[in-house]
Amino acid sequence: MRIITGSDHGGLSLKKVLVARLVTQGHEVRDVGTNDTASCDYPDFAVPVAQAVAAGEADFGLLVCGTGQGMAMTANRVPGVRAAVVGDTFTAKATRQHNDANVLCLGERVVGPGLAGDILDAFLSSTFEGGRHTGRVAKFTALEKK
Ligand code: RB5
Repeated sequence: MRIITGSDHGGLSLKKVLVARLVTQGHEVRDVGTNDTASCDYPDFAVPVAQAVAAGEADFGLLVCGTGQGMAMTANRVPGVRAAVVGDTFTAKATRQHNDANVLCLGERVVGPGLAGDILDAFLSSTFEGGRHTGRVAKFTALEKK
């Protein structure tokens, strides 16, 4: 899969661990930064990741900050993006199956690298179930046009 990723300083260490995992698994990974520990602003990385996913330049986005929250709030303002903050494997699966999430947001200060890896695997290996969920996703997607 083509994965685009980004983090701020608060998510840099976890992002590095997850990028290595993705590369080992054979995924194509593009990292938009940050690349150092200097304090920076999460929207500067959430926006390019979200726009690339919305444009179909990547299959999924992976955003990491301290909590995942600021990344998701930013990414979800880009039409076509469905970003989810996830802290457990059940939700990782469900947000793909039910919400068709296309950007995974993680908090380095919340989840350890082991759990984060399992969450990432669960997210990427799950697929949208369609059916009754299609109309629900369409209902909130319609808000983008208002
Ligand atoms: C940075 O201190 C922190 O606010 C950021 O990484 C993130 O948690 C914001 O949502």
